[in-house]
Amino acid sequence: VVDTVESAADLRRQISDARAKGKRIGLVPTMGALHDGHLRLIGQCRAETEFVVVSIFVNPTQFGAGEDLDRYPRPLADDLQQSESAGADLVFVPSVQTMYPSGINSTFVEVAGLSDIFEGASRPRHFRGVATVVLKLFELVRPDVAVFGQKDYQQQLLVGRMIADLHVPVQLSICPTVREADGLALSSRNRYLNRQERQAAVVLNRALERARAAVDAGERCGDRIRQTLHETLKSESMAELDYAEIVNAETLESLGDLGSERRAVALVAARFGTTRLIDNALLTT
Ligand code: PAF
Repeated sequence: VVDTVESAADLRRQISDARAKGKRIGLVPTMGALHDGHLRLIGQCRAETEFVVVSIFVNPTQFGAGEDLDRYPRPLADDLQQSESAGADLVFVPSVQTMYPSGINSTFVEVAGLSDIFEGASRPRHFRGVATVVLKLFELVRPDVAVFGQKDYQQQLLVGRMIADLHVPVQLSICPTVREADGLALSSRNRYLNRQERQAAVVLNRALERARAAVDAGERCGDRIRQTLHETLKSESMAELDYAEIVNAETLESLGDLGSERRAVALVAARFGTTRLIDNALLTT
């Protein structure tokens, strides 16, 4: 079974052994409850480095009051098994005490600008928690490559901004979103959905596909593409829309017009019952 470490000291020891053998270190940060999307991240990391570290840590500082911290799934034995078969060399399963030695209200990293919009507007302090824990993991592992999913579009953008701003010597590698056969993006939170909600949730991808089809057919007006998103999402009565936007893929600023030189991304978030899901699609390359 895959090697598992809980303490920072054991982690460092294993990593320096691997480094001494000339191996490049890869990191796949996760909160566990692994699904095929995570396994793809691990596979991509395996292809890019020789020693793959998967971290499993349900990070309390990125959950808001009343969010799902307590009920977040923690199927550890299953996660370890899956990490191993996907090609992980080491799984880091730290405690809250290890990650936050002086308590969870101590040092924070804040990526201004990207933290307060979209997911950040709906989830205050969420990205402060993400940036903080990701920098801690970077410091502990010192990876050459870190792999994140495109599914959490704003998160990978924010991590990229933090890496640049703080001169973190790591290469960010982004893995495309993995979807179910009917188009629903894989997410650990999908398991909260009942059967009807699960069926309804497909509307997120349907809206993105329609937006992309409009762009492929030559549509360049941001408002009209936005309207396509909204109309599609409203057609599903179980979807309670949070946001549906067409934005600049680097700055997340709202786009009135998709000029040929701009990269655009569609971002959507909606609630199905008590479960909030997000998805996105690049509209131009
Ligand atoms: O995407 C996630 O699972 C988490 O936000 C991350 C990057 C592991 C930080 O806790």
